[in-house]
Amino acid sequence: MDIDNSSTNDDADHSAAICGENYSTFLNTLHLCLKPKTYFEIGTLSGGTLRLANGASIAVDPQFQIDADIMGVKPSCMLFQQSSDEFFATHNASQLFGAPIDLAFLDGMHLFEFLLRDFMNTEKHCRKNSIILLHDCLPPGFFMTVRDRSDPTWAKSRFARWWTGDVWKVIPVLRSYRPDLSITMFDCPPTGLVSITNLDPASQALDSAYVEIVDRFSSKDIDREAYDNYWTTLSIEKSREFSTAQHFATKFWI
Ligand SMILES: C[S@@+](CC[C@H](N)C(=O)[O-])C[C@H]1O[C@@H](n2cnc3c(N)ncnc32)[C@H](O)[C@@H]1O
Repeated sequence: MDIDNSSTNDDADHSAAICGENYSTFLNTLHLCLKPKTYFEIGTLSGGTLRLANGASIAVDPQFQIDADIMGVKPSCMLFQQSSDEFFATHNASQLFGAPIDLAFLDGMHLFEFLLRDFMNTEKHCRKNSIILLHDCLPPGFFMTVRDRSDPTWAKSRFARWWTGDVWKVIPVLRSYRPDLSITMFDCPPTGLVSITNLDPASQALDSAYVEIVDRFSSKDIDREAYDNYWTTLSIEKSREFSTAQHFATKFWI
């Protein structure tokens, strides 16, 4: 991570809490231990995370920039070059797989309402014990949470280059509107990994509250007090302690 520690920087710094396995190393371990038969990814870019999957895969990205072997031993891999909203409006992930999604990784547009919709739409194609992973919801700095990368605040970030947008707000939303979900945070740099299970594909709780939620949470300005409060509520697992299927079984029904 490129960190600017200049004394004038008034950015937050939670990097000490996000110092476990890199997210892609952890994701690789998860694939090897849990062996998901179906993998669904939103936000693929060059394929750094898609290539880790060994099961049948679906990936969605409006602008793939794949530059390496993403197939590996996958039996099948479907790429949809469109936004996730367009994908869900026109395709049915569980029908394409012929089975529910086992593991999903949501890493598309970094705005809270987009990730919330990605979660809502993905859950409908899961079963209770599927796992949905959210990227970027443990931002170690505050300035990386700007909604617009042209915001001059971003240039002040001590974590040069990393942009999480305000997707972290999805966690308080889920805690508030979906207390039935089981949410676990992992200390994976650079910006954390959050897993969600105990899913309910039939739940309408988020759908029926969506307009209210967006109204409540999607303010254009970033809110330091809300960000600081969020960090006080986090209990973060040490990713390096998860290296076998037995370790993962303490968090997931596998
Ligand atoms: C951070 S990159 C993904 C990186 C990849 N998962 C990895 O870890 O190697 C985010 C990707 O999300 C894609 N994206 C942006 N808006 C999107 C949308 N509305 N739906 C799906 N993907 C989107 C971008 O094109 C970009 O490739």
